[in-house]
Amino acid sequence: MTSFDPKPIGERAQTMIDNLGSISAEAGRLTRLYLTPEHKRAADLVAEWMRRAGLTVRMDAAATMHGFLPPGKTGPRSNRRLLIGSHIDTVIDAGRYDGPLGVVAGILAVEELRARGVALPFGLEILAFGDEEGIRFPKTLIGSSTAAGTIEKSILDMTDTDGNTVGNMLLKFGSDPAAIKSEAYRRGDVIGYLEVHIEQGPLLERWNEPLGVVLAIAAQSRHRIRIAGEAGHAGTIPMPIRHDALAAAAEFILMVEEVGLKGEKDHLVATVGEITVRPGAVNVIAGEAQLSLDVRAASDEARAQAVDAIRLRARQIGQRRGVVIGVETVHEKPVAICAPRLRSSIGKAISGLTGRKPRELLSGAGHDGLAMAQLTEIGMIFVRCRAGISHNPLEHVSVGDLGLAVEALTRTILDIAGE
Ligand code: GLV
Ligand code: MN
Ligand code: MN
Repeated sequence: MTSFDPKPIGERAQTMIDNLGSISAEAGRLTRLYLTPEHKRAADLVAEWMRRAGLTVRMDAAATMHGFLPPGKTGPRSNRRLLIGSHIDTVIDAGRYDGPLGVVAGILAVEELRARGVALPFGLEILAFGDEEGIRFPKTLIGSSTAAGTIEKSILDMTDTDGNTVGNMLLKFGSDPAAIKSEAYRRGDVIGYLEVHIEQGPLLERWNEPLGVVLAIAAQSRHRIRIAGEAGHAGTIPMPIRHDALAAAAEFILMVEEVGLKGEKDHLVATVGEITVRPGAVNVIAGEAQLSLDVRAASDEARAQAVDAIRLRARQIGQRRGVVIGVETVHEKPVAICAPRLRSSIGKAISGLTGRKPRELLSGAGHDGLAMAQLTEIGMIFVRCRAGISHNPLEHVSVGDLGLAVEALTRTILDIAGE
């Protein structure tokens, strides 16, 4: 264990995170969705920081910002590159750390390496993805899937609730959507992908550990549920002959909760987080409901089985109530296992800082690493956050933990360079 004062670098990270956190669509709360004017302002700020750190900056067809540091001029050199990234979009009324921490940590690690005069034998590329939360459009991980080469051109036609397509919004942002299929890295050019992220759960805090090594990111899928019933007069249609879409939605939501509760051993979670009802009036029986469904588990089988069970029970609810329940899958990613080689480098970096054996944990939250795992080996460093609170303005990381996170990333890169 080497003595290291995390405060100075932690304070720098905090200032940068605060600066990004002030860029929002709304006064008084943080909301920064993909391809909005505030996403553009955040991307411009990140580009400025990247340039200041000595990186060559470019924006790709999915509006991801890339900052490239070539290999050192002395010693062995390879044309391959190590990728480091996270996202700069947020949920609605978000915290400041989910996403931006990983981008800021990457930029500060580059500054550290340069300040220490390190000549890396490979290139480093810092990535600031724009769509990890998947709030604006039905699809998520658009930036990282583009970099990984798994994006489908059809996403360009997907619309937000105002009817804006991804393609048009990319054009407005200054990207070239026509190039979306040709942006992928070539596998042979990439050494791996690293991401620093807040844990978004309570374990590190419970263990009294600032940092942890991620073992795997849970499998996840998202679905759009459409329930078609029959609108009618709330005063005249007798109860037994109604086809109430909202009552069916209520039963569907409780059924999803029941399926989720049964899967504890597989870390299964199933959530309906959104609902829209039409026509939506006090004296009208609901004719139509649209819901979101998010299902995650520690294995692909457990996730798929849960979705099958939900589909079957949705059909039964629909038949009994005389409504049609459609379940459309809009996003699906398998479990992403973190590579033993990168876990080992991260573990060494963490134990060098804490003097203890590093703790390992699973990620229930989705990350850009989920998409990047389809391109290359991935490794993730989790950072303790207060009370495990996330997707909430109360999200908090101490300055000391921020500093340790940057240093752990720097030492992980050095370990990989020394392999
Ligand atoms: C993103 O934070 C997700 O896990 O959905
Ligand atoms: Mn995130
Ligand atoms: Mn998030």
